[in-house]
Amino acid sequence: MTTVVPHAVDGARLRGRLDELAAVGDTGDGGVCRLALTEADGAGRDLVVTWMRDLGLRVDIDGIGNVIGTWPADATGPAVMTGSHIDTVRTGGRFDGNYGVLAGLEVIETVIESGFVPARPLAVGFFTNEEGARFAPDMLGSLVYVGGLPLEEALDTVAIDGAVLGDELERIGYRGPLPCPASPPAAFVELHVEQGPILEAECITIGAVTSVQGILWFELTIVGQSNHAGTTPMRLRRDPALAAAEIAVTARSIARDLGGDQVATVGRIDLHPNLVNVIPARATLTVDLRNTDPVELARAERMLFDAVERIAAAESVTIEHRTLARFEPVVFDETVIGLVVDAAERRNLPVRRLPSGAGHDAQMLARVCPSAMIFVPSVGGVSHNPTEFTDADDLQAGADVLLDVMLRLADGPIDRPTDGGVHQ
Ligand code: GLV
Ligand code: MN
Ligand code: MN
Repeated sequence: MTTVVPHAVDGARLRGRLDELAAVGDTGDGGVCRLALTEADGAGRDLVVTWMRDLGLRVDIDGIGNVIGTWPADATGPAVMTGSHIDTVRTGGRFDGNYGVLAGLEVIETVIESGFVPARPLAVGFFTNEEGARFAPDMLGSLVYVGGLPLEEALDTVAIDGAVLGDELERIGYRGPLPCPASPPAAFVELHVEQGPILEAECITIGAVTSVQGILWFELTIVGQSNHAGTTPMRLRRDPALAAAEIAVTARSIARDLGGDQVATVGRIDLHPNLVNVIPARATLTVDLRNTDPVELARAERMLFDAVERIAAAESVTIEHRTLARFEPVVFDETVIGLVVDAAERRNLPVRRLPSGAGHDAQMLARVCPSAMIFVPSVGGVSHNPTEFTDADDLQAGADVLLDVMLRLADGPIDRPTDGGVHQ
């Protein structure tokens, strides 16, 4: 076996694995549905674990179902880790999360084949329930991994379908023996599709991700008076659907009024009993607020709840809320960001720094080790959608940059984090 430092991953092998994994939970329209800890998620996990074992990695599963494959299998010191998630939203694409995990596997396979053995071990992981679409909050597995949420509390989380997280983990066979929090890796770098329009619009191949914006998720429950749609005069109505609609309009106007990076989304509205001729008794909806600026994000939160109070009073309904996720903006480690920029430049790939609009496991790992992310373009900036797509050349470029950055981190000294992740 030769021992030349590897220069490129096998893009065809990576795309082959992406196709195979996308077949698990295939929705028939190019998309994937592997909501966290469902049968489909379990089957996807089994496939990736099989690939890890076939490569000779040591596969460790912790109490929240995070799966980490380490090479060499007998390594003891902190590894340079990559990874992401393989759970999806209900109407997910095939690249979100999966690309980062399978590119990490591909990087390790490439290094093994080269015969080159870096000073530090290499690891690739996938973290439980990154999406947060079935269980809140998002990034739950990586949050537990770094000690941001006690394991027992996380195991009690109830899904939107009423299932309990710990039971679901047991059911699919992924409640592992390793303790949480885990001991930190030496460094973490996550490769992901951008999921937004910036890189494509600017003809940039590599994004060096500097930060992740703050995230607030709320679930609001509105209770009014259910009654007959034909007989109830408009002046007597106490209609939760009307109040839910006004909250959705308010969310949009908050984002418009604040401007800047503020975004606001009402992604789920459930009406009960949800019938054509019945004024609903109850509406449940979610509001997702995000901003790179924590002060503006706090202002958006205040504006939302001032409006919720006014809407409740005007329609004579009660509105209660639960906070599903609250994460401050996170700044990544300058050393690791610099390695991403440098690796792209050495390969003559157009690169720019940019913040992430989506949440990612790397923002949790940033609390315990130097961390950053690599983005590649998403065609049309589309994600959380079956049509999500990234060109083969860009998949290759991102994985090659990941290879370079991991090898640099695995062979050289690593600075401790700056203020990079000491945020909740
Ligand atoms: C995860 O995909 C999120 O940012 O919602
Ligand atoms: Mn993702
Ligand atoms: Mn996602």
